Amino acid sequence: MRTIQKLPASGGEREALRVKGQFWTPSWLAKVMAGWVTQGRPEILFDPAVGPGTFFAAAREAGFAGELRGFELHPDAFADGWKLGLGPDDFRQVQIADFISAALPGKFPAIISNPPYIRHHRLAQDQKLELKQLAQSHLGFALDGRVGLHVFFLLKCLTQLASGGRLAFLLPADVCEGISSSVFWNRICQQYRLIAAMTFADAAAPFPAVDTNAMVFLFTKEKPKEDFLWLRVCERDGDAISAVLDGKKPSNAVSLHHRKLTEAVKTGLSRPPAHKIISALRFPVLPKLCVELPPATMSFSSSPVSNFARMACRRNFSDGPSVEPWIAPAVA
Ligand SMILES: C[S@@+](CC[C@H](N)C(=O)[O-])C[C@H]1O[C@@H](n2cnc3c(N)ncnc32)[C@H](O)[C@@H]1O
Repeated sequence: MRTIQKLPASGGEREALRVKGQFWTPSWLAKVMAGWVTQGRPEILFDPAVGPGTFFAAAREAGFAGELRGFELHPDAFADGWKLGLGPDDFRQVQIADFISAALPGKFPAIISNPPYIRHHRLAQDQKLELKQLAQSHLGFALDGRVGLHVFFLLKCLTQLASGGRLAFLLPADVCEGISSSVFWNRICQQYRLIAAMTFADAAAPFPAVDTNAMVFLFTKEKPKEDFLWLRVCERDGDAISAVLDGKKPSNAVSLHHRKLTEAVKTGLSRPPAHKIISALRFPVLPKLCVELPPATMSFSSSPVSNFARMACRRNFSDGPSVEPWIAPAVA
């Protein structure tokens, strides 16, 4: 596994990375995302926040031979691209500009991103106003003022996706939390087809040194479907993830759940299916394995246990160090 970014543990250097949103995607995960998004041999791959070109390098490694395009606000990031085997030609069609404010000439058949994770309190007032207008025009309603920049990258990229195109996004799990999240996901999933949502156990965390739970979302611009794949990744095994996405059997490295959108958006896309949570509360000492648990008979919405399950899951899947929710102890 190639690691090109050594994160400073704290201090000014680390703060500078946070301000610019400069955390590079690990190569094992970039390869999974780039492989999936370029599977149909699109002519162009677009990344709205190129950084060192992590996804460009991963796509080339996966055999992509088309054009590389994108945006980057801080071109100093390209310096790390040489370590990935990229050259000036690979960045030739990257515009040095703010992706959010840019007018884009056309749509793209393949879009991939790990957008800058910049929280609302770091955004300037005029930027907030621009983002508010962006949500209003793309969704038909404004989003909660506490939504971070990364959500607007997703929104704008979805609208730039060509018919039949593929989009892969790496986002913090907080996009599935908060009061406006279910309205947001319902609207997105009415317009685009959610193919898969991936969550990561601690042992497979894409950013182990950063206090953020990551998720990956795969979308196509096709008629939406009610079912999608929900993956729990337990080991940093990119081949095992790609195999599951290709319809092969899951392994110990990845567990797979076929979920209904209505259930998943209601439960929260970052959380396991509701019946798995109840199972965990009924069988609290199950080993920490990436395996299917037997469905429970209890309804999630009406029992007092459900409230505890919801709380346990919220705690485990939102912030900070997490315990696997399906082995959360059944004590309040
Ligand atoms: C999380 S990094 C991801 C980089 C790379 N794609 C990867 O996955 O490793 C996000 C990148 O977006 C850049 N960035 C921040 N704000 C931006 C903006 N408004 N428009 C375009 N790029 C931006 C940052 O400089 C950073 O390089």
